[in-house]
Amino acid sequence: MAAKILVVDDDAHVQRMLSYALKQEGYDVLSAADGAEGFRLWGTEAPALILLDVMLPKMDGYQVAQKIRAEEGPNAHVPIIMLTAESDVEQRIRGLRAGADDYLIKPFHPAELLARMRSLLARFAPREVLVGRPPLGRVFAFYGAKGGVGTTTIAINTAIALHRELGRKVCLVDANLQFGDHRVFLDLGLDRKSIVDAVSAPTMDADLLRTVVVHHDSGIDLLLAPPSPETAELVTPAHMSQLLELLRTVYDYVVIDVDKRLDEVNLQTFDAANPIYVVMTADLSCLKNVRLVLETLAHLGYESDNVKLLLNRSNAFTGISVGAAEKALKRSIEHQILNEYRGAISALNSGAPVMYAKADSPLGRSFLDFARVADKQGVPADAGAPAPART
Ligand SMILES: Nc1ncnc2c1ncn2[C@@H]1O[C@H](COP(=O)(O)OP(=O)(O)O)[C@@H](O)[C@H]1O
Ligand SMILES: [Mg+2]
Repeated sequence: MAAKILVVDDDAHVQRMLSYALKQEGYDVLSAADGAEGFRLWGTEAPALILLDVMLPKMDGYQVAQKIRAEEGPNAHVPIIMLTAESDVEQRIRGLRAGADDYLIKPFHPAELLARMRSLLARFAPREVLVGRPPLGRVFAFYGAKGGVGTTTIAINTAIALHRELGRKVCLVDANLQFGDHRVFLDLGLDRKSIVDAVSAPTMDADLLRTVVVHHDSGIDLLLAPPSPETAELVTPAHMSQLLELLRTVYDYVVIDVDKRLDEVNLQTFDAANPIYVVMTADLSCLKNVRLVLETLAHLGYESDNVKLLLNRSNAFTGISVGAAEKALKRSIEHQILNEYRGAISALNSGAPVMYAKADSPLGRSFLDFARVADKQGVPADAGAPAPART
């Protein structure tokens, strides 16, 4: 069912513009031209979210927000985004005090509004969505069959999609310990804490975790790779296993961007993964590597059911069709992500992932489709992956 959004604004032009943009996204839209009507509609229609102008006839936006908060009781919370005319700090603070969850300064871009709405809708999603959450979160490991196939891009965007669109609590781990590049993809400085701060603390527990993860504006938490390659070796296989165990107690999803090395640290990640996504493109050298990776994982004892093939840039011209690739590999490709070179590269250059800044683009939708299926797929009874027998 489409979420119902209540728009309270006395400017007919703004009403029309918002109504159009929201309906395009599949929302149901209710409109009110003054504060009193807005308050009444909140009571009778129970919208999922309210966009509330500040300057309104009869009752202004602050009063409406205050009245709603006073009446809804402690167990309910309708998200409210205030629409203010100017960037006056005092006004913003007043809005937030009155009970708004977020504010936007007019004029704003519809994409920005939609992104903030989604984030709030996910945050205040009805509780039933989260019941049935297993006691331990799931680990998704992304492993590139070859460098440059898009492993990092996919790990980052999947993590954001799982959080923003599906309301999951997510930690993204950059396990590319020597040359991790999440700081570049997410525009973060070298001063941020990293996995090395986690493993070099005297005790690794949930309190420590809170101090070493970096909060990203998209709502996900990050465990970054060390700022320089020489400290990477401080992270031992035992650390990795302990860290993952701890992360799974705190997050619904631990999304890991794994580097190429099939070393003991990465095998710890694979042991916890459910599933291991092998990221590939449909070109000859990559297909050769995929075959090798699949063979190696099988030799190491990983169940082939727990290894999934994820084809990136699926519609790029490589001369090899998806069908031909499947035939060559003698197995099916479970998921595909579209090719959108400009979108991917401009996201990288601006430090704002597609799923964060341009969720409505074809590439954004492609990530979201993948995240939706992945979220539903293959959740085992104990929500953990059996550790393979290794010799
Ligand atoms: N679906 C896609 N469509 C177009 N370009 C992509 C896509 N995914 C990744 N790229 C581009 O490919 C390059 C390598 O991506 P990256 O995620 O760093 O790969 P890896 O982590 O496997 O080395 C980047 O320039 C990125 O923008
Ligand atoms: Mg990478």
